[in-house]
Amino acid sequence: MKELTIGRKPGLFPPYLFRDLDRRKQEEIKKGRDVISLAIGDPDIPTPAAITEFAARAVRKTANHQYPWGKGSPELRSAIAAWHKKRHGIKLDPETEILALIGSKEGLSHLPLALIDRGDSVIIPDPAYPPYTTGVLLGEGRVERLPLLEKDGFLPDFGKIPRKALLRARMLFLNYPNNPTGASAGLDFYKEAVKFCRKNGLWLAQDAAYSEVYFGKPSASVLEVPGARDVAVEFYSLSKTYCMTGWRMAWLAGNARAVQALTKLKDNMDSGQFNAVQETAAFCLKNHERFAAPIRGVFRRRTKFFADALEAAGWKVFRPETTFFVWARPPASAASLDAVYRMLAEACVLATPGSGFGPSGEGYVRFSLCAPDARIKEAARRIAGMEW
Ligand SMILES: Cc1ncc(COP(=O)(O)O)c(C=O)c1O
Repeated sequence: MKELTIGRKPGLFPPYLFRDLDRRKQEEIKKGRDVISLAIGDPDIPTPAAITEFAARAVRKTANHQYPWGKGSPELRSAIAAWHKKRHGIKLDPETEILALIGSKEGLSHLPLALIDRGDSVIIPDPAYPPYTTGVLLGEGRVERLPLLEKDGFLPDFGKIPRKALLRARMLFLNYPNNPTGASAGLDFYKEAVKFCRKNGLWLAQDAAYSEVYFGKPSASVLEVPGARDVAVEFYSLSKTYCMTGWRMAWLAGNARAVQALTKLKDNMDSGQFNAVQETAAFCLKNHERFAAPIRGVFRRRTKFFADALEAAGWKVFRPETTFFVWARPPASAASLDAVYRMLAEACVLATPGSGFGPSGEGYVRFSLCAPDARIKEAARRIAGMEW
């Protein structure tokens, strides 16, 4: 038989961070140890029952059994537009400025393929959710890292981007509320970001997957900034808002040219999300606060008691105003990976090494509070018992 070869693209990626952590967790469980995983951002809270009941009815409708609306059903896109109008006071055209996605990870990794060419650079925050680099690497672009530092509240300093890097850059990713730091951004920051992108001819892709997990003021949208839509698109997701990570439903909103470019690409790649899920998404958005508020309350409570406990144990904690992540440094300085493996060995608690999100995450650990309260309290108790 003639030898078969694999292309070079899979080799561009390191093993996906969470796969390796999961493998280590399974090894410990096989040894009979009681591992508490605070590693992955996947809510333990079930999808609200009224949503699953609505979905069950939608699944039974035979009209939903055929190929879905690729770009999102008209009903879903108008529910999304109505939601943005109510939530942010912005008016979006459901026909040209909104595109349904099969989860935002899918859209985030495909967008660079639609917007950049080989050799172009994309500016990506460091630390960041790993899939932003995926499309850039597949599109044979280059990644320019933009450090997010604690002293700046984990907001980037655009003035620090080297001139040379800016010349070949075509696109900037941002993510607020931020994973992994839990930082949030206000309208003033978004104004600065829009100004910077307009001046330098950059597409701005803002990932708002955690937009509804806020503990103070509702988080702002970059699309509220006047003129933002000349350069910006924003990603929204049902995953964290309604505890629906398994349902794979999200959307892109903003600049019509960018939305159309991704629509065209996706029309040639996938056939959209199951119509029953799209119908359910419209139902969620129409009943937004009824479902989002109790979930937000759970994460508010958890982040507070866990941050308190870590601080009491001598950790340096960046108290989140948004998301369900606690970003912290151990009592004695340690490399992220060493700290994570020590916690797994000595406390049987699995967290995520900050360095897995980029070099600027080194020294930090991310705790994801997606476990029942009692387990999170037990994890904090075990971590507090460790000597650093
Ligand atoms: C910052 C960020 N963006 C996007 C996603 C992906 O969400 P989705 O389930 O919509 O693909 C995640 C998931 O963890 C995330 O942390």
